[in-house]
Amino acid sequence: MNHLPWLQSSLPCLLLLLLIFSHPSYGDVGTAAQYSPPFLPTACYGYDPGQFPSSNLFAAAGDGIWDNGAACGRQYLVRCISAAEPGTCIPEQVIQVRIIDYALQTASPPSYDGTTMVLSDTAFGTIANFTATSMNIEFQQI
Ligand SMILES: *[C@@H]1O[C@H](CO)[C@@H](O)[C@H](O)[C@H]1NC(C)=O
Repeated sequence: MNHLPWLQSSLPCLLLLLLIFSHPSYGDVGTAAQYSPPFLPTACYGYDPGQFPSSNLFAAAGDGIWDNGAACGRQYLVRCISAAEPGTCIPEQVIQVRIIDYALQTASPPSYDGTTMVLSDTAFGTIANFTATSMNIEFQQI
């Protein structure tokens, strides 16, 4: 049983590789706050009631992704990766949100300023404890 030491030393490495590759990655890392009604008007579509996805999973773009308004209508996959309060993230939860507003012009103020995106209260509560004001996210445009 000469190969046992080799197995013992490389097992943590193999497990780490397995963890990295089995774990879905969504690209960029940023932050998210949340906001609640009233949502109208929005910087993208004004008072149009048809702008909300039926899932109620939507968001306002922060300066980092606003892209001078080109962000309107873009879809992002978002998941919570950490927060100031441990246990805030709901594990394995990924949402798809539609950008309908500019974070610096939302009708109601975001729970936290300067984040990458501001999620609707429904969106925020789907991936994290809704009592939190902000979280670190992983996100990817689709
Ligand atoms: C959400 O966070 C609050 C405040 O930290 C905590 O009291 C509550 O238990 C949390 N809820 C869940 C479902 O973890």
